[in-house]
Amino acid sequence: MKKILCVVGTRPEAIKMAPVILALQQQSWAQVRVLATAQHRQMLDQVLAFFDIEADIDLNMMRPNQSLTTLTGRMLLDLDEVLLAEKPDVVLVQGDTTTVMTVSLACFYHRIAIGHVEAGLRTWDRDNPFPEEINRVLTGRLAHWHFAPTESSRQNLLKEGVSDADIIVTGNTVIDALLMTAERELDLGIDLDASKRLVLVTSHRRENFGEPFAHICRAILKLATDNPDVQFLYPVHPNPNVKEVAHATLGKCANIHLCEPLDYAPFVAAMKRAYLIISDSGGVQEEAPALAKPVLVLREETERPEAVEQGVVKLVGANFENIVAEAQILLDDEAAYRAMARGVSPYGDGLAAGRIVQVLQQHFSGELAPALQPVDAGLEVGFEAEPA
Ligand code: UD1
Ligand code: UDP
Repeated sequence: MKKILCVVGTRPEAIKMAPVILALQQQSWAQVRVLATAQHRQMLDQVLAFFDIEADIDLNMMRPNQSLTTLTGRMLLDLDEVLLAEKPDVVLVQGDTTTVMTVSLACFYHRIAIGHVEAGLRTWDRDNPFPEEINRVLTGRLAHWHFAPTESSRQNLLKEGVSDADIIVTGNTVIDALLMTAERELDLGIDLDASKRLVLVTSHRRENFGEPFAHICRAILKLATDNPDVQFLYPVHPNPNVKEVAHATLGKCANIHLCEPLDYAPFVAAMKRAYLIISDSGGVQEEAPALAKPVLVLREETERPEAVEQGVVKLVGANFENIVAEAQILLDDEAAYRAMARGVSPYGDGLAAGRIVQVLQQHFSGELAPALQPVDAGLEVGFEAEPA
């Protein structure tokens, strides 16, 4: 038996690690342990409950409005004890959060092998996204296995000198999670006007805090005011830097519905129901194209260039004029909308977790298994553009 410690800290890590945990739990050779740093509390618990995953160890890290330094420091100290007690053969981390970087550093000090899920995403700009770009660069330096979602993320790692043999292109596990979820009964649980188009909004990036986020909110308000026949749904991230401004700016507009973060299944239902998505989320940029939903990304650059290159995601920055103009085009111009509302899945085919498990199994057994063949996720699950 090999002990695999799977780490989750925030909502997106849990969504993207869940398929890996569930796949490993099916393996007779693996003893799976789940470490929740709980860098997020409520949003992490929502996801773990949805996927029926229980944390074996919970560090309960989250504090209101936590700073990056104190979060990192407190976590590092607690990890010492956990790693000494657990002695895992491998630790799996996912993505680019403070949890990922800190756990990787602690594993390095304890000489424990690290598998990095969603490796190789880069903007090559240390300040965007902040602090995630540097978190993933550091994790890339510390990891043994690099589970890259796409060929372009593989190329990024090669540029940084990572050995080709240590990089495995798996697809992104977010598509595994999305397919597992889309199979279930999806209920948004919010009363929306069935006759009106829906614009779904999310925003939480640290580099947008302050003035840029104020521009984003003003742009949403302008769009809602100019388009009373369109309804806006905005599940607000609980970070006080986001929540207070969002409620103060948008709270009184009749066709903007602000709500608490949605559980994963209702959020997938909201994406499916949406006409257009406006977001700075990494995960949403990956999921929406598979659901044939155009995304306007509230950032100047992205580490997920594939969907932009395919023309189904557009970068609009945190720029008031751009956001308003580009969203208005998609609301008014049927042809422009259709060009972006195409079902493509550049980030995965739903088999990423299986590929990760296979790599670990081969490593421990020394036996090669046949590679899982690529599948067109969009076609496989019948995701296609819904009529406007
Ligand atoms: C974190 C990640 C970011 C990821 C995002 C996903 C870092 C530095 N940032 O950003 O990469 O994209 O999660 O959402 O790792 N809060 C709650 N309840 C929760 C979660 C958060 O109240 O369940 C509030 C708390 O006041 C907390 C604050 O949000 O202190 C910030 O949480 P934190 O994890 O530090 O940063 P995020 O902005 O959520
Ligand atoms: N999500 C969710 N509920 C919400 C908003 C988002 O379940 O109210 C999901 C979304 O489908 C995606 C993930 O959370 O899988 C993205 O998380 P977030 O935007 O917080 O972080 P990022 O992906 O930017 O790191």
